[in-house]
Amino acid sequence: MTEDTFSPPTSEWYYPSEEIVNNAWVSDYDALYAEAMSDIEAFWAKRASETLDWFEPWEQVLDRSNAPFFKWFVGAKTNIAHNAIDRHVKTWRKNKVAFIWEGEPGDRQTITYWQLWQQVNKFANVLKSMGVTKGDRVTIYMSRIPELVYTMLACAKIGAVHSVVYAGFSEQALSDRIDDAQSKVLVTQDGSWLRGKIVRLKDTVDEAVRRSPVVEKVIVARRTNHEIHMESGRDYWFDELMALPVASPYCETEVMDAEDPLFILYTSGTTGRPKGVLHTHGGYQVYTSTTLQWVFDIKDDDRWWCAADPGWITGHSYIVYAPLILGATSFIYEGAPMHPYPDRWWRMIEEYGITILYTAPTAIRSLMRFGEAWPNRHDLSSLRLLGTVGEPINPEAWRWYHRVIGKERCPIMDTWWQTETGGFIVTPMPSVGLKPGSATRPFPGLDVDIVDEEGNSVPAGEDGYLVIKQPWPSMLRTVYGDPDRYVGQYWSAYEKQGWYLAGDSARKDEDGYIWVIGRIDDVIKVSGYRLGTAEIESGLVSHPAVAEAAVIGIPDELKGNVIYAYCILVAGVDGNDALVDELKEHIRHEVGPIAIPAKIEFVDKLPKTRSGKIMRRVLKARAQGLPVGDLSTLEE
Ligand code: WT7
Repeated sequence: MTEDTFSPPTSEWYYPSEEIVNNAWVSDYDALYAEAMSDIEAFWAKRASETLDWFEPWEQVLDRSNAPFFKWFVGAKTNIAHNAIDRHVKTWRKNKVAFIWEGEPGDRQTITYWQLWQQVNKFANVLKSMGVTKGDRVTIYMSRIPELVYTMLACAKIGAVHSVVYAGFSEQALSDRIDDAQSKVLVTQDGSWLRGKIVRLKDTVDEAVRRSPVVEKVIVARRTNHEIHMESGRDYWFDELMALPVASPYCETEVMDAEDPLFILYTSGTTGRPKGVLHTHGGYQVYTSTTLQWVFDIKDDDRWWCAADPGWITGHSYIVYAPLILGATSFIYEGAPMHPYPDRWWRMIEEYGITILYTAPTAIRSLMRFGEAWPNRHDLSSLRLLGTVGEPINPEAWRWYHRVIGKERCPIMDTWWQTETGGFIVTPMPSVGLKPGSATRPFPGLDVDIVDEEGNSVPAGEDGYLVIKQPWPSMLRTVYGDPDRYVGQYWSAYEKQGWYLAGDSARKDEDGYIWVIGRIDDVIKVSGYRLGTAEIESGLVSHPAVAEAAVIGIPDELKGNVIYAYCILVAGVDGNDALVDELKEHIRHEVGPIAIPAKIEFVDKLPKTRSGKIMRRVLKARAQGLPVGDLSTLEE
């Protein structure tokens, strides 16, 4: 929920059972937290050396000399693909199941570590044959199918930098991201299944590539088998390439520097330009695997299901990299949660014996709407832990998830983090007491505080800005191609102190528990998707009828927030219902279906400050029928 619907901390506690605490990897959070904070470098170095392979060791754990451009495991040689796959095929895990996959139409695949390793090697050789070399960017536009995982890992293996663009983004958004990364190779699929229908991904790609001539080769995985256009000399079928002799099942893993880039992931910020968050091989593997192991208590016999999309950071870290590093078995489901009936998820949990489910508040709320009968038809007793991410979870949804899905047995890990942080930052572990709606406390090694504008810690119960006071291994290293934006966005607010500004407001309660309230910037979370007001506004004004636009987030019971748009039309244009529909369709193509406003209103004026900045607060208050507050800075 957002600021407007935030309910204050409650004194409602939930404690995990003794059995859970005793069996957990971490059964004493406080002791571990104290140990980590006494020497964070020693703490991370120990994890890095005990749990991962390195081709060459580091000379220095953390280099702060060019802050905020921090470096971790300086001088070490590694490759995350080695730790995620190569090393497992030399152990008993070779025949362990890495992924169980179910497509929306009901087709299935089981992929062992050995099979995964072979597919990745083969596709790595295909990419090489297409001229992809170390440091080259590869854009990936795919849905939740196994080929997406193969492609990401194949890039990592040869030292290429992947840029996964969520398959719900439009041709324009895709083209902007291709151009920013300057990718010569793009990997996609013919179409994906969603709610029983085909989403024509390749059509979107054709249009994006027309706008981005930098792309020379397009590799197309076959999924829906509908008729698509294949441009000769540019487009190749994934399966046909994999059948060529060049796709041999062994490809040497590239030796990477710990600080070499692993991927770019575009996320929304305060301007319309895509912001390429850059993560690296070394620190990222240490942090993501440690957090997954301890927070979700991953054991060899678990069946882990992170229901996110690999197109977002959650999928990068906790579908692809961390579970594989831990040698875990994961489940991936391709399609929509309610298809064909609202018990699809519960049927799959029962059938596959899922032990841990990690999803988002918006999914929980929409499943909740269908009532308890659907989950109650299924045996959910395999579940032992639950998780949530993406936005604050309202206590009501938390309690429903806990009672109806977890049968009051399963602690809920409410993990607060960001694309930029790479992994969980404020999060419970299965051994700590929980309060519905609070992400609880920082992960060991993380120094998180809630401060005012000057940087003073705010007293318990008061709002402030969430900051991170010490670097951590999976922090973003820069904004791709724009180091000034990296410094300005995250490090300038508390430049003197050298703290990271997350962009969220939060409170601490008297127990030191953190309650995240929402974004302080022009970012709107719609169903957990992160959208920038500027992206949507520039999408609207790119329509010839629109002169000016302002976009706000309005609290919504199901989606967390929905988008309201206010448009000033160019002189002489009539603002009617047909134009509303046209603008919605326009946004679908400019940004993507997730950015379509719930409401578009035509206005003559927008509330602005004297310096011309739109006062979103005034629009928000008006839309919700609330008092508008201080208007002394209002110009129009
Ligand atoms: C923003 C980051 C990290 C994976 C998915 C989102 C909000 C995220 C929580 C949570 C309250 C949360 C914050 C944050 N957020 N998790 N558990 N409780 N708010 O990544 O798209 O980069 O968005 O999501 O506002 O800043 P993202």
